[in-house]
Amino acid sequence: MTVTFADKLARIPHYEPGTSLDEAKQRAETDDAVKLASNESPFPPHPAVIEAIHRASADLNRYPDPEANLLRGRIAERHGTDPARVAVGNGSCELLLAAAEALCEEGSELLFAWPSFSIYPYLAPISGAREITVPLAEGDVHDLEAMLAEVTAATQLLIVCNPNNPTSTYVSAAEVGAFMEKVPAHVTVILDEAYVEFQTVDHPDASVDLLASFPNLVVLRTFSKCHGLAGVRVGYALAAPQFRAAVDAVRQPFSVNSLAQAAAAEAILHQDDVAARVERTVTERIWMEEALRGLGLDTADPEANFSWVSLGGRDEAEVVAELTRAGVAVRPGTPLGGPGHLRVTYGTRPENERFVEALRAAI
Ligand SMILES: Cc1ncc(COP(=O)(O)O)c(C=O)c1O
Repeated sequence: MTVTFADKLARIPHYEPGTSLDEAKQRAETDDAVKLASNESPFPPHPAVIEAIHRASADLNRYPDPEANLLRGRIAERHGTDPARVAVGNGSCELLLAAAEALCEEGSELLFAWPSFSIYPYLAPISGAREITVPLAEGDVHDLEAMLAEVTAATQLLIVCNPNNPTSTYVSAAEVGAFMEKVPAHVTVILDEAYVEFQTVDHPDASVDLLASFPNLVVLRTFSKCHGLAGVRVGYALAAPQFRAAVDAVRQPFSVNSLAQAAAAEAILHQDDVAARVERTVTERIWMEEALRGLGLDTADPEANFSWVSLGGRDEAEVVAELTRAGVAVRPGTPLGGPGHLRVTYGTRPENERFVEALRAAI
C-alpha cells in the first residue's frame, strides 16, 4: 500500500532555514565560522534569565502552565494592558500559523506584501485561503495603498511586516494608523513587529497605542530578537481577547514549554538589558551601512538588525558561496524573494568586520 498525503502538502513551500553554525563550519572547513543568517541577537541572554531557566528545570516532571499566567501577566504589565489581551506562542511563528488556521478557510483571501517573511507563503496552503501578494514599493518598502486596493469582501487576514523581513524597511506608526482607518472592520490585520524595537523612527510602543482604536488589529512580537531568546521560542500577540481564544482553539494547550515561559517572564523584567542590546545593534547597523557604502553597495534603508544588500548585478550564488568558503553564513536573496541580494544580520563588531572583509574579497 502506498501512503498518500493531503494534496495541500504539495502546495506548502519548503522552508530554507539559515545555514546553521555547524553547517557553516563544515562548509568553510573552519572552527570559527560566523553566523549572520537568521537575524538572531549575537549577545547571550541576561544571566538572570539563565538562572530562571535553571530554577524552572527542577519542575520539569510537571506540564507547563497552560495559561502561561506569569508570563502573560508580565507582558500585560509591560504594555499597560489586560492579560486577557495577550496570547503567547511557541515563537511568533506559531501564532501566525494558528491565526491563519483560525481565521481563514477555502473561499477566503489572505493578503501580504512580497518579498516579506518567508513563513507567510505557508499560510494559504495550510488554511485553504487564496493568497494575494502585493509587491513592495520603491525603496523596498510596504505599499499600503496598493494593499488596500486588493482588499475585498473575502479578505480575512492581512499581514504587515514592520520592519519588513528581508528588506529591513519600516513604515511609521502614523502611516499604519492612517492605513487602519481605511481597512474594513471584517479584515484582521496582523502587524508583525518581530524587529520593531530596533527601529529609531517611532517609540517602539507607538503601534500598541493603535490597539485601542482598532479591534481588528493584532500586534505580534517575539522574544527571539532583541531579548536574545531565539532558542527557547516565545512570541506574543496583543489583540482582542477573541483572538487569543481563536488561536487557542486550533493548537495544543501546552505549546509554550515551562523553561520558555520562565525565561521570557524573567527577560521582560530586564528592559535595561534589552535597551543595551538594541543600542549595540543600532551602532553595528550604522557601522555596517558605512562599510557597505564603502564597498560601493546599495542597501534598502535598514530599521531592523539586518541589511538587505543589492549586489549590483553580481552573481548572488557566487558571492554567497565565496562568503561561505570564508566561514561567513548569510542569507541569499533568491529564496527570500529578492534575487541579486543578500541579507546579512548584524553580529558583534569582529563578526561584522569578518563579513565585510570576506565580501570585499568576494566582489
Ligand atoms: C518578521 C518575522 N516575524 C516572525 C518571526 C518569527 O519569530 P519567532 O517564531 O522566533 O518568534 C521572524 C523570525 O525570523 C520574523 O522575521
